Amino acid sequence: MKKIEMKNPIVEMDGDEMTRIIWTLVKDKLILPFVDLKSEYYDLSLVNREATKDSVTIDAANATKKYHVAVKCATITPNAQRVEEYNLSQMWKSPNGTIRAILDGTVFRAPVLVKGITPLIPTWTSPIVIARHAYGDVYKNVETKVEKGDKAYLVVEGKKPSKQLIFDYEKSGGVCQGVHNLDSSISSFARSCFEYALSEKKDLWFSTKDTISKTYDHTFKDIFSEIFEKEYKKKFEEKGIEYFYTLIDDAVARIVRSSGGMIWACKNYDGDVMSDMIATAFGSLAMMTSVLVSPDGNFEYEAAHGTVTRHYYRHLKGESTSTNPVATIFAWTGALRKRGELDSTPELCEFASKLENAVIRTIEEGDMTKDLAALFKSDTVKVNTLNTEEFFDAVVKRMK
Ligand SMILES: NC(=O)c1ccc[n+]([C@@H]2O[C@H](COP(=O)([O-])OP(=O)(O)OC[C@H]3O[C@@H](n4cnc5c(N)ncnc54)[C@H](O)[C@@H]3O)[C@@H](O)[C@H]2O)c1
Repeated sequence: MKKIEMKNPIVEMDGDEMTRIIWTLVKDKLILPFVDLKSEYYDLSLVNREATKDSVTIDAANATKKYHVAVKCATITPNAQRVEEYNLSQMWKSPNGTIRAILDGTVFRAPVLVKGITPLIPTWTSPIVIARHAYGDVYKNVETKVEKGDKAYLVVEGKKPSKQLIFDYEKSGGVCQGVHNLDSSISSFARSCFEYALSEKKDLWFSTKDTISKTYDHTFKDIFSEIFEKEYKKKFEEKGIEYFYTLIDDAVARIVRSSGGMIWACKNYDGDVMSDMIATAFGSLAMMTSVLVSPDGNFEYEAAHGTVTRHYYRHLKGESTSTNPVATIFAWTGALRKRGELDSTPELCEFASKLENAVIRTIEEGDMTKDLAALFKSDTVKVNTLNTEEFFDAVVKRMK
């Protein structure tokens, strides 16, 4: 069989532990037999981050700016225990944090749906994608306790100074908090959301509490609206998709009653809470994919889960594990499809869809890893619980 050609490379960021083992299996069993893979390889394993003093992470992010498409394996974010385990010279920063700081983007998380694993909200027949603004608000707050009898003010110094009373703690002591955000960050969040909606041909919803927060949240609403009107309205019409703004409480009620299928842009805290609710309601962390989209059109795909450390330690002891590779496979298909779209190589996009269909069919026909077997319900399909390698072989059988 002639292999599918690629015009330009994707950036490949290898990672750690069990997902590193899965990475090799995805390439060897599912990609290399069918695609003449062009990739620029960066080893983001903790061992190599230590060896390169983490410059490899920066190089990989810069390569993503050059080639516009990357696929990343899960990586260890070191803590004190990992510093000891890997004998690190320092506690290297989270690679995802470093990459995000260089590419400046928004993370979109989307579940993979299969028949047999019904979301806890059964009307959700299409994926709901959460876009979380990953800057500011309560995550970069300043807070303090206030004594009874004291007053707290919001003070701005500089070109346009102002002083507003927050509260007079006359009758009781209490707490007080200052939060901030930046027009530049909100704008790039908005552009990433509009770009991703166009690339996925899905409606974009955005929600804040602008009726209560008439300056802070309203600024988010205004910036989204201005950018949409000026830069995206026409493009959305051409693709037949919608931008819809509503209050966060209204959005929650509508989402619960919906059939899914939209991208839901959320402020930092809302996105933190809602993405975990959506992931849990759709079934399993191992079925969540994630893509970082930068406002100038760079795409970095990955699984939403970590390196599955517990399984890796069992693997090291020579035991077989039943680790779910679906999100990692979909990270690869996402990247290959995007490469195909950008390079006008439809056969690459078609391959990505075929591989995704083979994975979904494998599960729907009863062949799955242990985590899914616990969730799968069917009157007609008998469940076969497979180990990691057997699952890959079951997918390969369907690919062929
Ligand atoms: N994006 C990333 O690179 C990323 C994200 C999260 C965690 N991490 C790293 O991963 C390591 C482990 O972290 P963790 O345990 O909190 O997260 P994890 O996602 O690896 O595991 C969380 C739980 O979900 C289960 N699980 C996750 N993915 C699974 C899969 N594919 N198949 C079967 N079960 C699966 C695990 O067994 C575990 O019980 C840490 O070093 C952390 O820094 C990396």
